[in-house]
Amino acid sequence: MTSTEKKVALVTGANKGIGFEIARQLAQQNITVLMGVRDPERGAAAAKQLQSDGRDAHFLVIDVTRPASIKAAVGKINNDYKRLDILVNNAGIMIDTQSDILALDPAVLHRTLETNVLGPLLLAQAGVPLMKSNGYGRIVNMASTLGSLTDSANPDSPYASVPVPAYRLSKTLLNGITVQLVRELRGTNILVNSACPGWVRTDMGGDQAPLTPAQGADTPVWLATLPDGGPTGGFFRDRQPNPW
Ligand SMILES: NC(=O)c1ccc[n+]([C@@H]2O[C@H](COP(=O)([O-])OP(=O)(O)OC[C@H]3O[C@@H](n4cnc5c(N)ncnc54)[C@H](OP(=O)(O)O)[C@@H]3O)[C@@H](O)[C@H]2O)c1
Repeated sequence: MTSTEKKVALVTGANKGIGFEIARQLAQQNITVLMGVRDPERGAAAAKQLQSDGRDAHFLVIDVTRPASIKAAVGKINNDYKRLDILVNNAGIMIDTQSDILALDPAVLHRTLETNVLGPLLLAQAGVPLMKSNGYGRIVNMASTLGSLTDSANPDSPYASVPVPAYRLSKTLLNGITVQLVRELRGTNILVNSACPGWVRTDMGGDQAPLTPAQGADTPVWLATLPDGGPTGGFFRDRQPNPW
């Protein structure tokens, strides 16, 4: 790919929160941004906000729990653009109702894994062939320090006691997907990394979080726009390595 070609990015869960900000910041860099959304009305409203600033942003319906929806969306990207340069697996849920893993409802774990783990995996499986065909790719998996085994296992870590077992397990697995993708993709100019955005004021993060969505988007946008030869196979927070 030459540097003059316009890149195409897909950001899931881009109608609000950190995903919307990632879309906005990528579009500011003259990238065509496809905003993955579940609801077309919310998607149209979100895309319109970026378009009104002159950005090349469009919504694309993707429910990451529906393989047919992922297949249709990536098929449309192939038809319309013949390329996918950047995939940000941002969509996620935190639906834990019990704080104790001994009481974790398997249905809650199942739903959480479907969205936070299987969705990103299916998107990578669908998107990588398009990236390979252009010899360029950046994949960012939106994980969380809550998924860090190092922090979870350290009783002195401020993150160790945050009581969302299904969510934590899902982000640990998502980091595992990053590591395995990197092993498969070495030498392909497809860089794959996990990001923690920090604790961000969104519907998920709540009102007390210290960071704005724009601040939370900084590390994933940096990873989504890494130069060739940039880091791959890392887990980053504040653009710095975070323990797995
Ligand atoms: N906020 C934090 O402090 C924080 C910290 C660490 C990591 N993260 C991670 O950062 C990412 C974004 O979080 P956020 O705080 O921006 O959350 P948010 O405000 O709750 O937004 C989540 C987004 O994901 C979408 N989504 C949920 N399920 C989906 C599905 N099945 N298919 C497609 N889209 C789906 C939502 O769409 P709808 O509007 O349709 O529900 C929404 O656009 C998540 O992966 C989260 O785990 C957040």
